[in-house]
Amino acid sequence: MSQAQPEPSLFIIFGGTGDLARRKLLPALARLSAAEQLGRCHVVGVTRDTNFNDDSYRELVAESLDAAGLNEQQRHALCTATLHYHGIGEGTQEDFEALGARLTALEEQHGLDRQNRTFYLSLPPKAFPITMEGLAKAGLNRSAGWTRLVVEKPFGRDLASARALTEITHRYFEEEQVYRIDHYLGKETVQNLLVFRFANTMFESMWNRDRVESVMITVSESLGLGSRAGYYDGIGALRDMVQNHITQLLTLVAMEPPSSFDAEAIRYEKIKVLRSMAPIDPSQVIRGQYDHGVVDGEQVQGYLEEEGVPSTSTTETFVAMRLSVDNWRWTGVPFYIRSGKRLAAKSSQIAVRFRDVPVSLFQSMGAKLDTSDVLLITLQPDEGFSMHLDVKAPGDPFRTKQIPLSFRYSERFGEIPPAYQTLLLNVLNGDQTLFVHADEVEHSWRLYTPLLENPGIIHRYRAGSWGPKEADALAIPEKQLWQIDGALKDEA
Ligand code: BG6
Repeated sequence: MSQAQPEPSLFIIFGGTGDLARRKLLPALARLSAAEQLGRCHVVGVTRDTNFNDDSYRELVAESLDAAGLNEQQRHALCTATLHYHGIGEGTQEDFEALGARLTALEEQHGLDRQNRTFYLSLPPKAFPITMEGLAKAGLNRSAGWTRLVVEKPFGRDLASARALTEITHRYFEEEQVYRIDHYLGKETVQNLLVFRFANTMFESMWNRDRVESVMITVSESLGLGSRAGYYDGIGALRDMVQNHITQLLTLVAMEPPSSFDAEAIRYEKIKVLRSMAPIDPSQVIRGQYDHGVVDGEQVQGYLEEEGVPSTSTTETFVAMRLSVDNWRWTGVPFYIRSGKRLAAKSSQIAVRFRDVPVSLFQSMGAKLDTSDVLLITLQPDEGFSMHLDVKAPGDPFRTKQIPLSFRYSERFGEIPPAYQTLLLNVLNGDQTLFVHADEVEHSWRLYTPLLENPGIIHRYRAGSWGPKEADALAIPEKQLWQIDGALKDEA
């Protein structure tokens, strides 16, 4: 959301050779640099390995940028004298002090005299506390300029561990310094939710329990586990997708208009939504785990056969549930959410289904209005939205048909920036609007932790399906709400 050129700074990535850094962070920085949006920013990759040096790191990063599809100009924009490497060894107090000395030397050498620094912890969560402590003890949690700390989810694995992590973070850093990344917030279509709702009076006046029958949020993936068993098993869909990404989407859909468009005002409204959520009824939660099946024409194995997954694992790879936001605007409107791996398609959508007309004028003429109007916001792929409305089909007999009025980002604007590009630029510009506040983390875990404590049964579903059939039962009273997938296919 920020526009200005960032101030000169150092951007330090802990885990500088890791998967996230190579696939997302460094490509995002290279694109920004090539587009001259990065300002005078020097990037320092940090890992334990002391055998690397600036040159070998630049070579490795250039290969990663190539693999990520960046062109030569973009690769060159980053892999020059602005990219550095530092091996921190075992990470002792002296090692952190040596890092501090290296940063100061780089700042002097490159005229970055304001001492603005971002520390990005692209590390496994267990390394967060020790790294924050190491930085603080070496005096690196403050500088003459600004110091920002970026952390990646998961922010804890339940309410107690999230609180403990926040406590450690706040021991060394002020909340204003902390940027918790939920990459969904960096997606253009997610940001567009706010514009869509608050720049168009038409929708805002209908955005309530009087007009909306239900809201459904789906984040489905056709991919399976890949090589991530070590992270995913024991975590599952509720922690991996629902507690963070989907809950963020829900709060943006349900929140009241903020008093202004700044980070604090928006967070305040999002937290109010979380506080209004009713405790979740366990009978309205369906968990599932995929069996083998066919996805995108390929035979794939079941979750329990995936490498690194114990054959007795009860980790859910699918979850669907019905939630309630008990406030003046939303009481009585069901919010359905579902997310899973190895489903029929990769798709992130929000479907807002409006109430039926009070009297169907056309029924007496034999026309059947079998679906209510739906606003479908597609976050990916084919970012955009469509409004599904009834029209008269031409000719006799009198028939109505539901048709979509659509808008696609790609058709109107061409390529849209990847989420990390947006988020990193916001960090550099000190804009916390698209980041997750400690209070949001706490309230979200407060909602879901009771389910984690009593997980309930796990249903089977075939890879390549839309999840366990039991999940359909959640939505059937709402006219087979999940079936909106069909509508989207017709449109394509
Ligand atoms: C990550 C999850 O946060 O989001 C992954 O850990 C998931 O399991 C990914 O695959 C999905 O992100 P996207 O942007 O591809 O929808």
